[in-house]
Amino acid sequence: MLKLTSIDLNKSKIETLAIAVCEDGNIHDDPILDVIVRKALKLKEFNGEKDETVVFYDLPDIKVKRVILWGLGKLEKLDREALRSMAGKTVKYCIKKQLTSLCFAVPDPSLTKMKMPVVLEAMQEGAYLGNHLFHKFKGEAKKRALKQIQFRVKKQINPKMRRLTARVTSICQGTIMARDWVSTPSNEKTPEKLTRSIVSLASKQRLKVQVFNQPQLKQKKFGALLAVAAGSQSKPSMVILEHRVPGAKKTIALLGKGVTFDSGGLNIKTGTSISDMKSDMSGAAAVAATLITAAKLKTNVNIIGAIPIVENMPSGRAARPGDIIRSHAGKTIEIGNTDAEGRLILIDAISYVIKRYKPQLLIDLATLTGACVVALGDNIAGVFSNDDDLAAEIIASGEKTHERCWQLPLPEDYKELLKSDFADMNNIGSTRAGGAITAALFLSAFVADTRWAHIDIAGPAYLKKESAYCGPGGTGFGVRLLSAMIRKYGDS
Ligand code: BES
Ligand code: MN
Ligand code: ZN
Repeated sequence: MLKLTSIDLNKSKIETLAIAVCEDGNIHDDPILDVIVRKALKLKEFNGEKDETVVFYDLPDIKVKRVILWGLGKLEKLDREALRSMAGKTVKYCIKKQLTSLCFAVPDPSLTKMKMPVVLEAMQEGAYLGNHLFHKFKGEAKKRALKQIQFRVKKQINPKMRRLTARVTSICQGTIMARDWVSTPSNEKTPEKLTRSIVSLASKQRLKVQVFNQPQLKQKKFGALLAVAAGSQSKPSMVILEHRVPGAKKTIALLGKGVTFDSGGLNIKTGTSISDMKSDMSGAAAVAATLITAAKLKTNVNIIGAIPIVENMPSGRAARPGDIIRSHAGKTIEIGNTDAEGRLILIDAISYVIKRYKPQLLIDLATLTGACVVALGDNIAGVFSNDDDLAAEIIASGEKTHERCWQLPLPEDYKELLKSDFADMNNIGSTRAGGAITAALFLSAFVADTRWAHIDIAGPAYLKKESAYCGPGGTGFGVRLLSAMIRKYGDS
């Protein structure tokens, strides 16, 4: 769908050309574009301010049907995310107008502070992701995605640019895969169905796939995971995906919370807090999609993906508050609240992965706590780590991809709050205060000295209202971030 081009605007026919314009400086080194931009800036209603737009039709001398000029604001503030947003919004505009193709005039990097790969990557990401629609369940009112999005660069297209375009395409496809899983309603992604869907897509990329079913989980003593699954009609599973590289020394393990619906269990959620709980498998979706993407890109590090999949439901068989269970690691846990289920399935996955694979690095992604959303809002994830350098690397990767993360602490003394009178630990803190922290501390009790980070994505995993390059629903948060992290490890 993404295509590089260096077409001549005088000669080739184009349906729609999009030109990004800064309010206080030219960013296009091209006389034809220059004339158009000047003409637009002469208009009273267009100054190149952020998200101002003007459309010209059938301009003389060029074979372009329509030209959209899109304001980027101040040149000094121009960054990756401004370009990504502009590209996403332009694509959405074209979809709304029922167009089928679009060509972006790529700004000349020498006129911005950025380098060509950065400019191109950002615009391509915004365009590809903005072109995604989740409309599987719609009938007639379906919108249509654009068939082709071109990027016009003035200079010669080199193999590096082509490789970049291929890489961006794969990573965006991974992001969209995760979005689609998250947006799918829970009746269409019961644990059995989600397991099959992951297995099928992972097998296509020739990842090694293993699935532990309920009897195997019992035999392997995944007591915490099984307790969460007990109330559901659906059977739980644990999916292990492996991307193996002969000769690679390092192994990264990625873990994702896969609760296909979180009703809260017997501590049932009330009011609107239950409404978007189909998204409680966003960590699982991001991890599965990242592994599938890594396999496609032939990444040169070993990666293990561990994905515990359950549904949290109340029923006569459900775990009760006060129940004491035995985790895979052997620790006993008092279930203080059945709605604190994510941490239970994660600790069994963490213990198993560390014992079986001894990874050099372990990162888990989970829509773990409402408290993290209270702390950081809807658009920023919380990062917890036993290694500040690792947390910094995650935050830096997230700055690049605009999957924003902020570090929160793991204070040793707060572990007190997780004490139980009857078991080794309680799954909830004795106070609601610091809920994201106590949840992370609960996980930390099972990682021993493995280099580990936990990313609480309860806020950014899901959007109620569309944004510049995402529709309402799953955002695919984590796929681009984890892919950037993996790439760093591959290089070193
Ligand atoms: N899945 C929820 C967390 C969540 C909340 C995700 C909002 C997305 C949006 C998690 O399982 C949960 O219910 N956490 C409880 C923990 C509490 C019982 C200690 C919470 O945050 O209220
Ligand atoms: Mn819950
Ligand atoms: Zn949950």
